[in-house]
Order: sequence, then structure tokens, then C-alpha cells
Amino acid sequence: MRATFGGKVGAVLVTAGSAVGLGNIWRFPYVAGEHGGGAFLLLYVACILLMGLPLMISEFSIGTATRKNAVGAFRQLNKRWAGVGYLGVLSSTLILGFYLVVAGWTAEYMIHSFVNDPILHSTDITMHQASFERFITHPWKPLLYAALFSLGTHLIVSLGVKEGIERAAKVMMPLLFLFLIILTVHSILLPGGMEGVRFFLRPDFSKISINSVLAAVGQAFFSLSIGLGTMITYASYFKKNTSIQHTAVEVTVLDTLVAVLSGMMIFPAVFSAGIEPTAGPSLIFITLPSIFSSMPLSAVWSSIFFVLLVVAALTSTISMHESVTAYLHEEWRMSRKAAAWSTTMLTMLIALFSSLSLGAWQWMKICGLSLFDALDYLTANLMLPAGGLFTCIFTGWFMDKALFREQLYPNGVQPSPFYRPLRFLIRYFCPVIVTMIFLDTLGII
Ligand code: TRP
Repeated sequence: MRATFGGKVGAVLVTAGSAVGLGNIWRFPYVAGEHGGGAFLLLYVACILLMGLPLMISEFSIGTATRKNAVGAFRQLNKRWAGVGYLGVLSSTLILGFYLVVAGWTAEYMIHSFVNDPILHSTDITMHQASFERFITHPWKPLLYAALFSLGTHLIVSLGVKEGIERAAKVMMPLLFLFLIILTVHSILLPGGMEGVRFFLRPDFSKISINSVLAAVGQAFFSLSIGLGTMITYASYFKKNTSIQHTAVEVTVLDTLVAVLSGMMIFPAVFSAGIEPTAGPSLIFITLPSIFSSMPLSAVWSSIFFVLLVVAALTSTISMHESVTAYLHEEWRMSRKAAAWSTTMLTMLIALFSSLSLGAWQWMKICGLSLFDALDYLTANLMLPAGGLFTCIFTGWFMDKALFREQLYPNGVQPSPFYRPLRFLIRYFCPVIVTMIFLDTLGII
């Protein structure tokens, strides 16, 4: 008997655990900051509704129709499309290779906050910048933390789908929401905080360009964990009576809510300290710690913040790990234990190289980018949209229509009025827009 999640709540929390991650708290605020705050938010919500949600439903339907890992699922439905499953498993492995590195940084900062490290007390931002750089280029510390993170992920995955993954999500997701709300309220109440909320919510359309559209689509896919078959794998564990549409809508709402709350937590703090909101990826590791250090009870706030990040990252690394583990277990007929260890070893090795490429081994470059940045670029800008494109073409044009409909409306329930618009988005809208984005990324249009 193949494992399943306990029920609807479990399915939503586990799937939301995959979706809510560093993408929401680390990546979304800085991408939004670079593209005009509120205007980007509108664009992002449009991408989520018109592309993210239909694609998530597509992946879910492949998972529930086959009850297999990503490769096995495509292979069962149509042998020729197994390649999309392979692309997904490969991308999950590569994303884990750099995601674990950033996750390791969050774990390091969490420990430093707990022990109340004096470095975190400096109110001088250049000191924070220097200590961040010293840390990520350190010869072994970031490797140690990435390895610890990887072992934590391994432990939970090897406890199993229900006993490990679902139990972890049921503890960690409520904690995540609680901490996020505490920090957001605290941040908005800071002197000058409302200005940050205004920046984040008031649209500045002059900053919107074709590039912002690309960024919004990329961010939507990354944030919802779609395009890699992760959602196929998770849906394959849904119980028979779990509605894939309701789950998809709930997960999408939760994921977007976390992204919006993260923006409302970060921008007020940034404005209150009089710092430029466009600081980029270093926002949470440099800007925020320097802001925390000027507050009363700084160690408490930074501990809560970094626990939040570690929890968000962990439920996401678990989902990528699980999709590779499930593939090795079911397709290569390894025991689950051996499959989980193989995944851990392989991804740890990639994480090792990508972390070293930022420090001791800076000569390790691909097309002028460090291995770390190259992996980020390759996966987020090329492999993810490619996976998303093939998935919607497959479900829209090649998957048996009755089978697809059966996943959405089991037991002969009449399709709801949303069915037709959904089919339209999957068959025409998503493939056309994603293809245009591709051509643009490759410099063809
Ligand atoms: N969605 C996660 C985040 O926002 C990252 C992630 C987990 C992911 N699994 C994925 C991204 C699968 C793409 C595909 O941080």
C-alpha cells in the first residue's frame, strides 16, 4: 500500500509547506522592491491566478491520476512524456544544491541570534555586511550548516510521508504563521513603519517593464513550487476524498498571504531605519539584522525571525528531497532508506560545490557566474518555466480529457463554472505566455 496523508488539513499544510519557503520571505520582498513595490504585487497576483493556480491543478491532477513519482506518473500516462518527469527530478536536485546553502545561512544566523552573538548587536550596517561576507566565504562554516540542514531534511523524509513529512508540517506551519504575524505587527508599529506599508502597497507603474512581467511569472512558479513535479509527488499522497481544486486554492491563498505579510514585515522595518528598499538578496541577512540590532530586545526579534526562515526553508527542502527520493525508491526500486540517503549525499555534494564557489573556490565559474548563481539562474529562469510549459501542454493537449476531469470532479460530479476558464488557461493562455517568456529569456524576441 502506498502512503497517504491523513486528510484534507494534512494535505493543505504539507503542500503549503512546500510552497511557503525562502521564495516568499527572502526572494519575494526584494524582487518586489526592485520592481516598484505595489505595482509588482498586482502583477504577481495576476500571474498567480492566471498561471500559478491552473498549473498547480494540472500537477495535482497528474499526481492523483497516477499515484506515482514525477517520472513514473508521466511515463504511465504517456511514455513519450517521461522526459518532463526527468527534467523535474533533475531540477529538484539542482535547486536543492543552492537552496541548501541559503538555508544553511539562515540556520547559522538563527544560532547566532540564540547565543546573542555580539556581531548581531552592531548598529553599523557595514559591519553586518562584512560579517555576512566573512561567513559565506568561510572555508568550512557554511558547508557545516548546509550539511546540518541537509541532515535535518533527511531525517524527516526518512521518517516517512505521514510520520515524518506530515507530522513536521503540522507542527511547523502553525508556528510559521504565528511568528510571521508577531513580526509583521511589530514591524508596522515601528516609528515610520507605515511609510514602508505604503511603498509596498501603493503601485508605482513607472517601474513596470516587460522585465517585471518575467520576474513576476518566475517568482510565481518558484513560490508555488510548480514546474518540477514536486506537486505531482505530493498529490500522489492525497487521500481519495481530498479535492484538488480546494487544496490548490487554499495553498495558493496561503502562499500569497505569506508573501504579502513578509513584505509588510520587511518594508516597514527598512523604511523605519531609513534604508533603501532595493537592497536585493542581502536584504534579510544584512539589512534586517542591522535593523534588529537597534531595537530593544534585539536578540528576541532576530531569533524569532531566523527561526521563521529556518522553518520555512525546511518544509520546502523536504518537498524537493521527497520528489527525488520517491523517484529513486519507485523507479530504481531502492529501499526508501537507500533512496533518501542517495538523495542526501548527492544534493550535499552539489551544495558543497555551490557554497565553495562563493568563497574558497571562486575560480569555479560557469559563463562568468559562480556555480551558485549559475544554478539559481539555470533552474529559476530556464528549467522551471520549461517544466511548467511542458506540464500545461501535456495536461491541456495530451492527457486524456475524461481522466483530467475525473480528478477534478470525481464520482460523476458536474463540472463547476470554473472548469471551462480553467481549461482555456491551461490549453492556451499559459503555454503562449510561458513560450513568450522563454523566447525573451533566450534573447529571441
Ligand atoms: N516554493 C519554495 C519557496 O518558495 C521553493 C520550492 C520548494 C520549489 N519546492 C519547489 C520551487 C519546487 C520550485 C519547485 O521557497
